[in-house]
Amino acid sequence: MRILLLNGPNLGRLGARQPEIYGSTTLAQIVAAAADRASAAGHALAAFQTNHEGRMIDRIEERDYDAVVINPGAWTHYSYALRDALAACDVPVVEVHISDVNAREDFRRINVLDGVVAHSVIGRGWRGYLDAVDWLAANAT
Ligand code: DQA
Repeated sequence: MRILLLNGPNLGRLGARQPEIYGSTTLAQIVAAAADRASAAGHALAAFQTNHEGRMIDRIEERDYDAVVINPGAWTHYSYALRDALAACDVPVVEVHISDVNAREDFRRINVLDGVVAHSVIGRGWRGYLDAVDWLAANAT
C-alpha cells in the first residue's frame, strides 16, 4: 500500500511551534518515524506539507496513493474545499490531530471533515501519526 502523509498549515514548524501544545518533535522526525512504521509493515509512505489550501488539493488530485493520513491543521474547522477533495479521492483517509481539539477553544470542536474520514486519531501527540499508519495497515489492506 502507498500511504500519502499530508500536513496542512503551520505544521511545518512542529518542534518549534507552541511546544507546550504540540511537543518538541519536528515534522521531519515524524515523517521519518511514520515511514519506518509503514515500511516495517511492508508499506511505502510519501509525505507532503503545505500552508496553501490549493496546493494541498492539487496534491490530493494526483491520486498516486492507496491511502491518506492527514493532519489538516486549522483547515479541519472550516475548509469545505478540503472536505470535497478528500471525499473525492476514493481511498481511506485517516485524520490526525496532535492535540485534543475537543478540549481546547470552541472553534476547534467544529470538524467539517466528519463523515469523509474513515478514522480519526485525536490528542495522542506526535505518535498519533504512527497510530494512523497502524490503523491503515490493519484495516485498509
Ligand atoms: C491540529 C489542531 C488544529 O486545531 C490546529 O489548527 C493545528 C493542529 C493538531 O494537530 O492538534 O494546526 O490539527
